[in-house]
Amino acid sequence: MSQLSSETSLISPSHTPTKDVPLRLGVMASGSGSNFEAIAQAIERGELNACIQVLIYNNPGAKAAARADRLGIPAVLLNHREFASRDALDAAIVQTFQNYAVDWVVMAGWMRLVTPVLIDAFPHRILNIHPSLLPAFKGVHAVEQALAAGVKIAGCTVHYVVPEMDSGEIIIQAAVPVLPDDTAETLQARIQVQEHLIYPRAIALAAAQALQG
Ligand code: GRF
Repeated sequence: MSQLSSETSLISPSHTPTKDVPLRLGVMASGSGSNFEAIAQAIERGELNACIQVLIYNNPGAKAAARADRLGIPAVLLNHREFASRDALDAAIVQTFQNYAVDWVVMAGWMRLVTPVLIDAFPHRILNIHPSLLPAFKGVHAVEQALAAGVKIAGCTVHYVVPEMDSGEIIIQAAVPVLPDDTAETLQARIQVQEHLIYPRAIALAAAQALQG
């Protein structure tokens, strides 16, 4: 991945590739937010030329919100229970991201299906991370699905978001072994180590690809 550190991610708010302008990320998280924090740390270490403009979370009390508070990143609660439809929630997400001048959307454990209302507002600029080697084990409980299938290698995938769940173009994957005594928890933990490594790299790679047109 050496090309990622030399090809810094450079996209202006107007979506026009411009050198030395940090990516303006909007992150969506429903729960723990460890990937959100891993991306923030990669930015802090200078490994990703980006700024997290805002975190959107949908569950009051999500640990991701406490991480945002600690990291000094604005956090906006959009509780899906208070919206009449998925489209209405996604319209509010788009409005929030526009308010914060976001130009790349990073779904990091967002446990809701998204609609074309969001997808069409950020064409080819929404990424998601999934805890399997897609196209295997789409949907919920991917780690449990992998264990039940008896696979010997599991992993994670960062991909572009399209209307069909977990089906967009793959950007980066990482593989881990499945050990004989693994539980869902131990395998998930091994996968998450890799998630935290590949997500910042995938963001940089997607931005570099966008620069190349
Ligand atoms: C990750 O395992 C990711 O693959 C899945 O949701 C989980 C989020 O974890 N989409 P965290 O909230 O980033 O810790």
